[in-house]
Amino acid sequence: MSPSTTVPVLTIDGPSGSGKGTISRRVAETLGWRLLDSGALYRAVGYAAGAEGLDLSDVDAMTRCAQTTKIRFHAAADGSDTRVLVNGHDATDELRTETAGAAASAIASIPSVRQALVDMQLAFRKNPGLVADGRDMGTVIFPDAPFKVFLTASAAERAKRRYKQLKEKGLSVTLATLQREIEARDARDASRTVAPLKPAVDAVFIDTTGMGIEDVVAKVLAVVRP
Ligand code: DC
Repeated sequence: MSPSTTVPVLTIDGPSGSGKGTISRRVAETLGWRLLDSGALYRAVGYAAGAEGLDLSDVDAMTRCAQTTKIRFHAAADGSDTRVLVNGHDATDELRTETAGAAASAIASIPSVRQALVDMQLAFRKNPGLVADGRDMGTVIFPDAPFKVFLTASAAERAKRRYKQLKEKGLSVTLATLQREIEARDARDASRTVAPLKPAVDAVFIDTTGMGIEDVVAKVLAVVRP
């Protein structure tokens, strides 16, 4: 057993818009643990590929891109959002767009791309603990994690939440388009042959439809501190 496996990990997996990002951040802050936003890694690779004008369906080019893209997370001193640097460029805002999400979902179905990002994810496992947010955290990356949660919500509710977030950021979207995109992304993430989106057998399943953030945070914290 490598020494890092003694570091506690809470995995939070689930589909897009299930509230994972917000909940993971809040739970990590409360526990004083580090946070891995694994979706940002896939988004960053997709973004880097786009910036270089590469074809997202070119497996060799995407694999090289995943192996060589330099991704750094910088926590802002004033407590505002962590910035994500992709090959030295602050791409935080670009990474949050639906285009970046769709590109991430497309390249995430390539096994060699996923493989290229494994070590980077494992390196986040440091004391006093890690909250790992993603799709395959409890099933593939940290299968030995002592705490696992799978968050979900109805597609309609997830579309509504995403709509509100994007509107607040001043981005122009329609609810119907968002719901269609979310369902298409869910279907692709759940049906890919490598690391599909599915709850770990030992995960606590929480349906957050109709629940407020505080209640979900409390439920997730109770998994770590019953
Ligand atoms: O969590 P997110 O929306 O930022 O993730 C963007 C895409 O990246 C998602 O559609 C699927 C992919 N992804 C993945 O395959 N595995 C992860 N652990 C995280 C994200």
